[in-house]
Amino acid sequence: MKIRRVACIGAGYVGGPTMAVFADKCPDVDFCVVDIDPEKIAQWNTDDLPVFEPGLLEVVKRVRGRNLSFSTDIDEAIDSAEMILLAVNTPTKEYGVGRGMAADLKFVERCARQIGRAARTNKIVVEKSTLPVRTAEAIRTILDSCSNGVRFQVLSNPEFLAEGTAIRDLLEPDRVLIGGDESPEGAAAIEALAGLYERWVAPDRIIRTRVWSSELSKLTANAFLAQRVSSINAMSALCEATGADVDEIAKSVGMDSRVGPKFLKASVGFGGSCFQKDILNLIYLCRHYGLEEVARYWEQVIRLNDYQKRRFSKKVVQTLFNTVSDKKIAVFGWAFKKDTNDSRESAAIYIADDLLRDQAALQVYDPRVSPKRIVHDLVSVKRWDDWDRPALPEDEIRSRLTIHDDPYAAVKDAHAVLVLTEWDEFTGYDWKRIHDTMQKPAFLFDGRNILGRKAMEDIGFCVYQVGKGTPDDAASLEPWGR
Ligand code: NAD
Ligand code: UGA
Repeated sequence: MKIRRVACIGAGYVGGPTMAVFADKCPDVDFCVVDIDPEKIAQWNTDDLPVFEPGLLEVVKRVRGRNLSFSTDIDEAIDSAEMILLAVNTPTKEYGVGRGMAADLKFVERCARQIGRAARTNKIVVEKSTLPVRTAEAIRTILDSCSNGVRFQVLSNPEFLAEGTAIRDLLEPDRVLIGGDESPEGAAAIEALAGLYERWVAPDRIIRTRVWSSELSKLTANAFLAQRVSSINAMSALCEATGADVDEIAKSVGMDSRVGPKFLKASVGFGGSCFQKDILNLIYLCRHYGLEEVARYWEQVIRLNDYQKRRFSKKVVQTLFNTVSDKKIAVFGWAFKKDTNDSRESAAIYIADDLLRDQAALQVYDPRVSPKRIVHDLVSVKRWDDWDRPALPEDEIRSRLTIHDDPYAAVKDAHAVLVLTEWDEFTGYDWKRIHDTMQKPAFLFDGRNILGRKAMEDIGFCVYQVGKGTPDDAASLEPWGR
């Protein structure tokens, strides 16, 4: 089957970058990315893209107006394409049955109904969004019951890109996974999608599976990755109590080829829009199938992550003589990791919320996250295990929060500086100048272990790093550390 035109519904962190790379690699195919959000589409048509990713703007500039377009005309994009990718959001459900656990599939369902209505020729519909196992079946049922005799093939092609490295991940994927049904039509649909990837991905990296295995592989991959972070973060707490160094442990454990060195960086806790929501979804599925022990196993990965974030904010309060009330605390980094403007579920939100509830005055700097987004994050903060807990009132948040576009302004008169994202620029700052402008003693809480401890102590900072116990810490566990 020759694919000449592809539509992608959802112009977010997956839809935009993915289609830009497809368009670059398949110059003879037209790609159209559509969204219900007209502002987002307008932004994709400028050079101020809604998604910040290293290398993305260059690719978009090369293909936009050639074989990549961004539009709000969803019906037209559906009708004119042979293949339609669904890259809409699948957040945790905030209401009704499965509230706080299940994936909210309303956006996916709306798309399926719209495809059913708008399609006048046969289509291949591809799940790019991360979905619970067996969603393809539901999509097929909806499509078949909405359509007027048009035939659909439904594939699962989960996306494995990580933000901040999305372009590299798309250009050099570890694997591409395509799940489809075993009928001749299903096999033809799989080959049509594989044919696009084969323009730049080695054939042995393109895996074909049954559709349910593909859906469940994606949830499994994210659960395993999050589990590694929680495992090393668990050890970071023990390192602090015993005087060991978590980075030394990660290095020696990671050199075992069966474990591998990646994804063993202790931190303030994992964030991002997917790890928590995908594991919650996995837990919900396990409970649905009566697998309580399996559900509890995965639940602990999230509980440990909550513990790591709470442990960090508690450490700040305890170290600052058990009170941060009206103390200025500088926060460096709001994004959930470096090289993205995305702050969904960022550890910074939860740590800031904890400190605001302890009456701190926060002075935040992030090179990419907008002030509007930072306020939105705090006003809408939700904890998965305490869904009904209200966020702080917006006027209280605003009265205790200042957002700076200059890091040196953010640290002025601060009692402490918290490094919550591993932005490269933080390591190049004039830390002596920062120390000079702060109140004394000047505390530095390096939640990403990116700053040289000795150099910072030589400047005069009192330094805390995650999982870096000292013999002194182990010997004396006073409430405020030193
Ligand atoms: P996003 O929120 O950035 O983008 C989703 C877009 O879909 C939004 O712009 C929204 O307006 C649009 N949308 C929702 N309903 C629509 C509808 N009915 N019609 C048209 N547009 C609609 O989300 P994202 O981060 O791109 O994630 C999308 C999916 O991909 C999720 O299932 C996520 O789990 C998965 N995923 C995300 C990443 C990532 O790094 N962000 C990586 C792999 C997989
Ligand atoms: C993650 C997966 O890595 C992708 O494969 C997947 O496609 C994606 O989720 C998704 O489904 O959305 P992403 O969340 O963008 O990608 O970024 P990661 O690099 O996985 O980082 C997630 C969080 O874990 C970040 O907060 C990061 O700082 C933290 N992390 C990661 C650590 O604390 N330590 C590590 O060693 C690695």
